Amino acid sequence: MDAALLLALGLLAQGLGLSRGVPGGPSALYPWHRVPGRVRRAWVIPSISVSENYKRIPYTLVQIKSDKQQLGSIIYSIQGPGVDEEPRGVFSIDKFSGKVFLNAMLDREKTDRFRLRAFALDLGGSTLEDPTDLEIVVVDQNDNRPVFREEVFTGHVLEGAAPGTFVTRAEATDADDPETDNAALRYSIVAQGGPELFSIDELTGEIRTVQVGLDREVVAVYNLTLQVADMSGDGLTATAFALITLDDINDHAPEFTRDEFFLEAVEAVSGVDVGRLEVQDADLPGSPNWVASFSILEGDPDGHFSIRTDPGTNAGILSVAKPLDHESCALHQLRVAVQNEAPLHAAAPKPRRGQATVSVRVQDTNEAPEFLENPLRTSLAEGAAPGTHVAIFSARDPDTQQLQRLSYSKDYDPEDWLQVDGATGRIQTRRALSPASPFLKSGWYRAIILASDDASPPRTATGTLSIEILEVNDHAPVLNPPAGSLCGDPGRGPGLLLGATDEDLPPHAAPFHFQLSPGVPELARNWSVTQVNASHARLRPRFRVAEGLHRLSLLLRDSGQPPRQREQLLNVTVCRCAQDGACLPANAARRAAGAGLSLGALLVALASAALLLLLLLLAALLGRFRRRPLDKTLLHGPLDDPRDNVLDYHEQGGGEEDQDAYDINQLRHPIGLRAPGVPLGRPPLRCDAPFSHRPPQPPRGLPSSPTDIADFIREGLEAADGDPSVPPYDTALIYDYEGDGSVAGTLSSILSSLGDEDQGYDYLRDWGPRFTRLADMYGHS
Ligand SMILES: *[C@@H]1O[C@H](CO)[C@@H](O)[C@H](O)[C@H]1NC(C)=O
Ligand SMILES: *[C@@H]1O[C@H](CO)[C@@H](O)[C@H](O)[C@H]1NC(C)=O
Ligand SMILES: *[C@@H]1O[C@H](CO)[C@@H](O)[C@H](O)[C@H]1NC(C)=O
Ligand SMILES: *[C@@H]1O[C@H](CO)[C@@H](O)[C@H](O)[C@H]1NC(C)=O
Repeated sequence: MDAALLLALGLLAQGLGLSRGVPGGPSALYPWHRVPGRVRRAWVIPSISVSENYKRIPYTLVQIKSDKQQLGSIIYSIQGPGVDEEPRGVFSIDKFSGKVFLNAMLDREKTDRFRLRAFALDLGGSTLEDPTDLEIVVVDQNDNRPVFREEVFTGHVLEGAAPGTFVTRAEATDADDPETDNAALRYSIVAQGGPELFSIDELTGEIRTVQVGLDREVVAVYNLTLQVADMSGDGLTATAFALITLDDINDHAPEFTRDEFFLEAVEAVSGVDVGRLEVQDADLPGSPNWVASFSILEGDPDGHFSIRTDPGTNAGILSVAKPLDHESCALHQLRVAVQNEAPLHAAAPKPRRGQATVSVRVQDTNEAPEFLENPLRTSLAEGAAPGTHVAIFSARDPDTQQLQRLSYSKDYDPEDWLQVDGATGRIQTRRALSPASPFLKSGWYRAIILASDDASPPRTATGTLSIEILEVNDHAPVLNPPAGSLCGDPGRGPGLLLGATDEDLPPHAAPFHFQLSPGVPELARNWSVTQVNASHARLRPRFRVAEGLHRLSLLLRDSGQPPRQREQLLNVTVCRCAQDGACLPANAARRAAGAGLSLGALLVALASAALLLLLLLLAALLGRFRRRPLDKTLLHGPLDDPRDNVLDYHEQGGGEEDQDAYDINQLRHPIGLRAPGVPLGRPPLRCDAPFSHRPPQPPRGLPSSPTDIADFIREGLEAADGDPSVPPYDTALIYDYEGDGSVAGTLSSILSSLGDEDQGYDYLRDWGPRFTRLADMYGHS
């Protein structure tokens, strides 16, 4: 027997020992053993087994040896996971003896085998043998319980399901070696909480029904207690629950709680509930197997009733769809049926009360009267006298079909125009209605009349009375506007557009007829009137008509039946014609007429202008005299510093210099043309103002000392007073400035070339004492 075989037997014996968990002494292993003459490279050494959870450590697993060298001249080592790789330090080796030790407790569920490499070196460190593999297998122990995947398994099955129907599957796992019994699981049902209705497959965990008679209406949910055990059912166990819900089927039909229902309904109303038809159904509330749906089988051919389902209680609610009438039918006998929305299951028992009789008594109530015609339309002539009959607005009472119990009254009559006979409904006017009433809409007047019966409480009907007010032609048309102007030239211009208005409404108004008054036939000789449209006509002169106001008499007629007409005066102002035949504006006309003005008129105008100028001059002079004492007090006040009050006095010559705004010469020549034979009285003559320009005086230099200011001003004032060419600075006004190109020329052209020496102001003395000073200043004597 060769050495290899011996080793194999040794190993076998050792492996068996380990699997029993009782390791014997370490066996020697010759991993590099060679059969002479045969080279066995990569010799696979059988694996070494060691049980997990072995606690007596360190424990000598095996001894490796090389048969090449003597003991003591070889150094052994191992490498690999469990030695110098994670998990480190599980195994170690005695480098001289070659004994391999287990240093830690093993867990097969973490690492089930280790693969190490063994080396044999000489003392010098050189390799004696090729490295070889050493495999250590961890042997399983039943150290893990089975575990259910869920704590509670849920399943559904229809009630009444056949035996063997799959419900759900329970699953468990076991961490132990699945190759061994340690992980061989077996399922079972420990408790069912009642009769044995479910079974579980012990190998697969599938739960199925085993019996008929699952009834949701008896038990809706089953709670099974499940167990799983390893070691084929003898080992460790775990527990879970299975909740099995029975799903509803429509195995119960809805049934009325009674065979007959007695209800009462009110007549003449619709949409009201009459009563409830209670039903019961054992199926799942809220599901289509439970919800009732009702139908009326017979007794309601006219569709007076409808039934809807109360979603909360499943009862049928009978309501009135069309108003009931006690007088035509006092008792309705209905046959109603109920069923589910979902079809009934074939296995369900036939319902006993799937139909019921419903008796509905109709109560008599007081119904409102009704107007025979509503709204009632009628018509009445405009301005109808008080007491005029309008209409009879009568109603009937559906309860009794009698008329005499009703009474009538007004509800709405904004003009308080109508009067209602309370007993008969006859309506007449109380007074005349104003045609201008705001309640007259497009010729219609609306009133509301009530008809009430004498029951208590009374019922009332509301009727609308619409009265058309028929227009009467009581107004003649009126010229609008009653005056106008036109060009008197017959060939030119559009003439005068005449309009008219009429207070009546159509058909008693337009079209209007315009006519020159037939009473004044000579009018038609000079004027013509042509109709433009329904409301307008055009007046034109036939011949050239003198300018000025003409009063024409016109006859206007409307189209009413009978027509109304009226003679009216029209003020026509015949104006001066413009080129296009329109009227020239007033001032333009005057200018156009300027050439033709008589000389007398011109002289009168010029004289008026001269007088106005003179008056202005006088007013200015007066103003200057009045100012002088004021100046004195200002300048000689004992405490006043004159510099506070005198400003810019070197502008005194501004009136003379300021000639851009107007030609001041025009103001200095106020003498009208004296036409021969036209006395003008004594014309105002001036002899002071020169007609030529005086050169403006050079501005005087300021005094060097403030004490000289008063003298300086006084000198300035005297110079100004002595300067006759300067009109008062603040009273010069432009009162008329003629434009260029006038035939009459400018006013200044009227001036004579008289020198101022020739003029005399002596007459000023005649004007009274107030003018004596003027006369002193300007007069010769
Ligand atoms: C099922 O039964 C077990 C034991 O009787 C109980 O602990 C568990 O709560 C039950 N589950 C349900 C959902 O009722
Ligand atoms: C008609 O016109 C002529 C000439 O302008 C005038 O003399 C006459 O009075 C006018 N007739 C009437 C009726 O206005
Ligand atoms: C009649 O003619 C006048 C003037 O052309 C115009 O203002 C008016 O609106 C017209 N009326 C009708 C009813 O056409
Ligand atoms: C027409 O003219 C006359 C006389 O000038 C005057 O009295 C009357 O008020 C005028 N009528 C109208 C409507 O202008």
